[in-house]
Amino acid sequence: MQKVAVITGASSGIGSALCHRLLQEDADLHVCLACRNMDKANATRNELLYYYPHADISLIQIDVGKLDSVLHAAKEIKTRFQRLDYLFLNAGIMVKPRVSLRAFLRGIFSRRIIRMLSTAEGLMSQEDRVTPDGLQEVFETNFFGHFILIRQLEALLCCVEKPSKLVWTSSVNAHKNNFSLDDYQHQHGKEAYSSSKYATDLASVALNNHYNKQGLYSSVICPGVVMTNMTYEILHPLFWKLFLPILWLLRLLTPTYTLTPYNGAEAQIWLLKQKPELLDPLAKFHSCTTFLGKNYVETRKMDVTEDMAKKFYKKMLELEKQVLNSCHQHKK
Ligand SMILES: NC(=O)c1ccc[n+]([C@@H]2O[C@H](COP(=O)([O-])OP(=O)(O)OC[C@H]3O[C@@H](n4cnc5c(N)ncnc54)[C@H](OP(=O)(O)O)[C@@H]3O)[C@@H](O)[C@H]2O)c1
Repeated sequence: MQKVAVITGASSGIGSALCHRLLQEDADLHVCLACRNMDKANATRNELLYYYPHADISLIQIDVGKLDSVLHAAKEIKTRFQRLDYLFLNAGIMVKPRVSLRAFLRGIFSRRIIRMLSTAEGLMSQEDRVTPDGLQEVFETNFFGHFILIRQLEALLCCVEKPSKLVWTSSVNAHKNNFSLDDYQHQHGKEAYSSSKYATDLASVALNNHYNKQGLYSSVICPGVVMTNMTYEILHPLFWKLFLPILWLLRLLTPTYTLTPYNGAEAQIWLLKQKPELLDPLAKFHSCTTFLGKNYVETRKMDVTEDMAKKFYKKMLELEKQVLNSCHQHKK
């Protein structure tokens, strides 16, 4: 039976590079681009077909920041496919990110310099908004919309004889100190992105506890620092181009400057080849690139406990019940 991979946020950056690499690895794979903007999705599909004319590629519309759209997409996926082998939970946003020059200057003359340069910790300011579903947009887009999608697709993902894989695109920016179980949507903080990525890390651990026996495995990756629309929103592309030689040199200090979306997708591709039952559920898999341009994957322990993951999962099941109830009531 033909294997199927669904990739959210496949219309650009790391998601689109991942599709290229998936087809490079397995020309027989069915690749389903799950995207918000269908013009961009079509353009990506055409580009992929240019390189892989015989590839089997389909499109599905999904806005992971809108519950209705997630439910509709899940329904559509269930009518098209009998099972999913891979679900890449990759779509993500950072709202109006800005670099703080002050924090940068303070950081480069301190002992924190390498940590700051490799994780952007404390370097950026950003915003957040409330969606029509009444949820924080960054939380809903980066995490909760995907969580609902997985839950809706349970029947296609859970098969004991033939395991399926979930792969979350998290970040090195997922910090425990920016997340609180009492404010998991990050209504009251200024680090919505970091909090939402920490939520994906917690959820992945909990999903493994909950679903491994049913043949579903979850992993978390970090693509490194990659030049994409997201990074171009933080600083103008011209700035990044001018500083490219410096970014290249920074690879001598930290291998996380993967820079190209192709390199950034290394960890996802590496995961395809691993036996999921042998992977550490508490690990994050980092795409890395050496100074000479060689790609590899580094496994690092996440700052997550099983207990916290369990508590978070319980809260997500309650929130799921709440939003699905209000969704059904709207339709009546
Ligand atoms: N770039 C980095 O250095 C970096 C580092 C760590 C983690 N990441 C993570 O990598 C992932 C991919 O980001 P990227 O760097 O490749 O940036 P990107 O080029 O901006 O890609 C983001 C993708 O997510 C999609 N998306 C955004 N909001 C969506 C929504 N509500 N519904 C459906 N799709 C939505 C975008 O679709 P549209 O085209 O419709 O906007 C786009 O396809 C994100 O999760 C990001 O947090 C990136």
